[in-house]
Amino acid sequence: MQLFYVPLLSLFVLLVSLSFYFLFYKSKSGSPGALPLPPGKTGWPVIGESFEFLSTGWKGHPEKFIFDRLAKYSSNVFRTSLLGQPAAVFCGAACNKFLFSNENKLVQAWWPDSVNKVFPSSTQTSSKEEAIKMRKLLPNFLKPEALQRYVGIMDQIAKKHFESGWENKKEVSVFPLAKNYTFWIACKVFLSVEEPTQVAKLLEPFNAIASGIISVPIDLPGTPFNSAIKSSKIIRDKLLGIIKQRKIDLGEGKASPTQDILSHMLLTSDENGKFMTEGDIADKILGLLIGGHDTASSACTFVVKFLAELPEIYEGVYKEQMEIAKSKKPGELLSWEDIQKMKYSWNVACEVLRLAPPLQGAFREVLTDFSYNGFSIPKGWKLYWSANSTHRNSEVFPEPLKFDPSRFEGAGPPPYSFVPFGGGPRMCPGKEYARLEILVFMYHVVKRFKWEKVIPDEKIVVNPMPIPASGLPVRLFPHKA
Ligand code: HEM
Repeated sequence: MQLFYVPLLSLFVLLVSLSFYFLFYKSKSGSPGALPLPPGKTGWPVIGESFEFLSTGWKGHPEKFIFDRLAKYSSNVFRTSLLGQPAAVFCGAACNKFLFSNENKLVQAWWPDSVNKVFPSSTQTSSKEEAIKMRKLLPNFLKPEALQRYVGIMDQIAKKHFESGWENKKEVSVFPLAKNYTFWIACKVFLSVEEPTQVAKLLEPFNAIASGIISVPIDLPGTPFNSAIKSSKIIRDKLLGIIKQRKIDLGEGKASPTQDILSHMLLTSDENGKFMTEGDIADKILGLLIGGHDTASSACTFVVKFLAELPEIYEGVYKEQMEIAKSKKPGELLSWEDIQKMKYSWNVACEVLRLAPPLQGAFREVLTDFSYNGFSIPKGWKLYWSANSTHRNSEVFPEPLKFDPSRFEGAGPPPYSFVPFGGGPRMCPGKEYARLEILVFMYHVVKRFKWEKVIPDEKIVVNPMPIPASGLPVRLFPHKA
């Protein structure tokens, strides 16, 4: 008799479990017409697929995480779990368009908790609110009139940088130099700091931050995450010192209200007439220095790498830049007009950004349940858009691994497919600034040298920006005068 009850009891348990599943789980996650969740797997508890996601980058192939799953699930949206969060990866131009055009409607910016820990805001708000404030502030500082003024400043810094770091050297390591270049420019333009030893002192702790931000967030001595938190505090303290001094200098008329973004931040109030605190300003400048210098230095490094590998592309850039160089009087600085003439060089830089995008993608948070492509996307999930999903897709860019700057001639790539700077309302506000500093860098490097790679097949590591594993050592061959 008892034996008879066992299957009955099992059936009862199954039915109750199913009803609970449909009542609580399905109603929460699948409300748009009970559509299925995207295909995919969520990996290990808590860690999810974070290790696979990060380790494909460490091995130099971040696109592998995406393309393996796209092939496996035959869907341009797949489910995963990243950095402790249930997530879906949205791939391809249509997905990019959907995410970028639904900013603040269906999705909003989201950064992993590790980012909030590395950059705890003095105002105790989240990185999300801080990003909104930054968005309002930046246009003043990155608007075309301001940018035009930076061309000459960037040219001056580039000249000093190449004289001290590259000239009279047989061999240099490009990545550390490119970092020094973009950081020097940022220090000058944001803070009016340009004395090389002061710049070097600020740069030192920065190196630990980038790799710690998108890492497994284990805050124990020696982990990348732990050193990023420590370094961010060191820099913030240094910035606070600079800010206090600037306040004094402004009061005594020794500094100008328009000289850089620091003065601008100190003297601009919000719509309620409130000024930012010193801590708040330090956080904002830290964010700009991080967002601005590591990305652009990775781009400059890959320009040198590709030009070393592709002599005919080098020749094209050299020809264009020398025409500009020859048109200048001795000592005359580059101008906005010169930058507009660097069309081929910019196409080359775009092809570099396609093949080695400094940011691989970014996250969004789902604000409300919605359905996309027949799948249900639950509120609270994190969505990830990936630059490589279009940049390395042969349907969008035929022969995707071929370096071909002509892809950017005429109308260029289809909308939402070339996205090194993102898109929609959150598109990188530093895009034009980055264009200027990359082009000024190209002008100086090709005008002075030809070069060859010391390690022909140097490995690339993506953590989170792509960098050659040994820093790209190159042998320099100065042009004859
Ligand atoms: C080659 C250089 C650069 C690349 C490839 C790059 C790429 C990006 C991308 C893809 C995003 C959007 C992330 C998203 O969708 O959430 C972004 C946002 C941002 N970038 Fe850049 N960036 C570069 C240079 C710069 C520079 C020079 C600055 C500052 C002067 C800057 C400041 C920012 C800021 C503040 C944001 C956040 C905007 C927001 O959340 O609304 N970036 N960048």
